[in-house]
Amino acid sequence: MATADGFRLDGLLLGVATAATQVEGGDVESSWTDWADRPGTIADGSTPRRATDHWRRWREDTELMASLGVQVYRMSVEWARLEPRPGVWDDAAFARYREELELLRAKGIRPLVTLHHFSHPLWFERDGGWLAPGALWVWERFVSEVVTRLGDLVAEWVTINEPNVYVTGAHVFGDFPPGHRSLREGMRVYGVLATAHIRAYALIHALRPAPDTMVGVAHHLRPFRPGNARNPWHRALTPVMRHLFQDAIVRAMTTGEFAPPLRRPPGIAPGRYADFFGLNYYSRTTVTRFDDGTPPGVPVNDLGWEVYAAGLGETARWAWETYRLPVWVTENGTCDAADAFRSRYLWEHLSVLRDVRAQGVPVDRYYHWCFVDNWEWNEGEGPRFGLVALDYETQARTVRDSGRFFAEVAREGGATGDMYARYVAGQTYPVSSAEAHHR
Ligand code: BGC
Repeated sequence: MATADGFRLDGLLLGVATAATQVEGGDVESSWTDWADRPGTIADGSTPRRATDHWRRWREDTELMASLGVQVYRMSVEWARLEPRPGVWDDAAFARYREELELLRAKGIRPLVTLHHFSHPLWFERDGGWLAPGALWVWERFVSEVVTRLGDLVAEWVTINEPNVYVTGAHVFGDFPPGHRSLREGMRVYGVLATAHIRAYALIHALRPAPDTMVGVAHHLRPFRPGNARNPWHRALTPVMRHLFQDAIVRAMTTGEFAPPLRRPPGIAPGRYADFFGLNYYSRTTVTRFDDGTPPGVPVNDLGWEVYAAGLGETARWAWETYRLPVWVTENGTCDAADAFRSRYLWEHLSVLRDVRAQGVPVDRYYHWCFVDNWEWNEGEGPRFGLVALDYETQARTVRDSGRFFAEVAREGGATGDMYARYVAGQTYPVSSAEAHHR
């Protein structure tokens, strides 16, 4: 698979991805600033108030992005910033996003904007979050305001980021706000989020028709395999986990068809509710119990997640064969503070995309996660996913070798054997020494 020969990526647009809460900084009253203020919630006790200070450094960041040859940029807007109190809009915050979007476009960088990336206003959370009786109405008011005010500058929208990671974090395992632990509640929230997406899809298109405006979801997909293929418990649990974690919610959001344990909410009819399939791909799950496991003896990143490049091809192919939508890789990247294997990771994942594209899977976009090291939710400031290193104290940005490699690939429209020799050949992954469980 990953030979040292080069490969072409003609027609694949390359870029980077971020999320507002992870980069902007500032004293915003969101579910996450409140959560981070509670002792014991964030690994290093940090809060998103510092992050990469992108709210003020957006010009510098956009210039840097352009200098790295970024063609497409996935970002999100912070709901708590735009609507600090119910129904009250912050005009200055809208104006600031408009300026950033205008500069991106002037630099030839096409923006893809996420409306909900794990975070919402604290007042929404306190009212009961997604389970409050009026939640969908409040969400629609927000979507409509944003698309009305920014839709002339944004033609591509992600409604909700990783509904499965959000629901399992916030409602099943309790490590995201509001910190609940109930599988039953998680399944209820899935139903609400599916409705939220389907209604937002219709609403955005009522304001901005297809095909000029494209709307989708960024789904987190992973291959699942039994820890021990001869263990009946592992074998039985694997498809159940896959169904509960991804297949059921992906199907509900994409088609309006609800398989048990999800129930079709009133007013939702089967249909087609996406213009592209957003795929976030990081790793594979090895199932030995009800969690995310990694076996010993496999390549892993700094967080102990298995590095399994073939899985990007497997999930992209599955998405295409199941839903027949163009696949946009809306996130892919790795945690590597020393930049010791990120270039190899990039090479392997991009060459997998070259292979599946050659076999007819229409993968049109690749957004690397992430641009500058950013605030990693309950893991805090520790993990380093950036093509650009951040010094949190000074806020200095330093392009890593992998960032230079990415820039060369973007400029050339592919990778060459010479790049392999310079960036990839000397890199190896750490190998896991023991079985690990990530929840
Ligand atoms: C999320 C990002 C996160 C990344 C790395 C994805 O699940 O969408 O917000 O930073 O994974 O952990």
